[in-house]
Amino acid sequence: MRGTTPAAPHNSPDVLVLGGGLIGLATAWRAAGSGLTVTVADPEPGGGAARVAAGMLAAVTELHYGEETLLDLNLASAARYPAFVAELEEATGLDTGYRACGTLAVALDADDRAHLRELHALQQRCGLDSQWLTGRECRRLEPMLAPSVRGGARVDGDHQIDPRRLAAALLRACEAAGVTFLRSRALRLITAQDRAVGAALDIGEEVHAGQTVLALGSRSGTLEGLPPEVAPPIRPVKGQVLRLRMPPAEPHGAFLSRTVRAVVRGGALYLVPRQDGELVVGATSEELGWDTTVTAGGVYELLRDAHELVPGVTELPLAETLAGLRPGSPDNAPLLGPTALTGLHLATGHYRHGVLLTPLTGEVLAASLTTGELPEPARPFTPRRFDTSPTRAPQEEPA
Ligand code: GLY
Repeated sequence: MRGTTPAAPHNSPDVLVLGGGLIGLATAWRAAGSGLTVTVADPEPGGGAARVAAGMLAAVTELHYGEETLLDLNLASAARYPAFVAELEEATGLDTGYRACGTLAVALDADDRAHLRELHALQQRCGLDSQWLTGRECRRLEPMLAPSVRGGARVDGDHQIDPRRLAAALLRACEAAGVTFLRSRALRLITAQDRAVGAALDIGEEVHAGQTVLALGSRSGTLEGLPPEVAPPIRPVKGQVLRLRMPPAEPHGAFLSRTVRAVVRGGALYLVPRQDGELVVGATSEELGWDTTVTAGGVYELLRDAHELVPGVTELPLAETLAGLRPGSPDNAPLLGPTALTGLHLATGHYRHGVLLTPLTGEVLAASLTTGELPEPARPFTPRRFDTSPTRAPQEEPA
């Protein structure tokens, strides 16, 4: 903890965060705000999946069967967003691109409509705010939608943020809070006497720390030195994403005024229009290891489906194509908090909800680092649900 003596040098912080993506940065910011000295190791803090992600805060429209416990976590984080953004923007003077614009989820053909109807029924059973609309009502809200749109669900509580701006703001907030950054990759976890005591970095330095947080996204399970029983079972799930430029909003309206998600012949698609004119179109979902190649096939499928949904997209300049890796876990839910290895905490496995879960992850990790306890509503997401050591506690069941 910080005392009256000067802050500890970076080779002995209270907390070493391995990974400076959104999750690592939010954890570092909140931990520093709790009075801990914090070092983040990452060759390119603020990079990684935050460069690629569309930034949908889609607790309701990205709900899946069997993920009701995860829904509670997602809703808890969504509820924190306005205050989180206000605090971050106040601390840094930077705009995060947060837009409380809502989401419209639409269906193209009859099968897609049946699929979306099922999701809408699930949303209603879960008590969520989601209003079913006819195709005509959808087009009244978003006139650029194709005449073939068969219906949709209006979800006014699913918003968006610009993950690149969010990362830049978190980086600046961390620096202002005294977090030390080492532009370096973690090579190996260091353990001594049955506890984690830091990490060896590729700049040839060892950083010793009271507690170490593993926030390496899709690579979290690959760090050398992790005892197998606490190594998180994370796999990379590739997503290809396009960035287009929309024309400036005309008097009769914007190209799209809210996030549009769609089921297009069984496949999922989303279009996320930003205030600054960027339109993010995503995303593929591919299990191909750590490959991040943008393929002609991936771009073709996204543009084909986007064109069918909003024919005007093919008129827009294509500004950027990128692929990123979602950190997938066996139950699609994150692994948060202390592990069976004393001194090692996890903040990984956020899969499709990393941006959404950023505020809550920072908060619960700071709490677990200061108290040793994972607060509600994060308890079901303890890493110990995947712990393969013989002492696994019986109450720690999968989420
Ligand atoms: N949450 C959006 C995606 O994973 O593609």
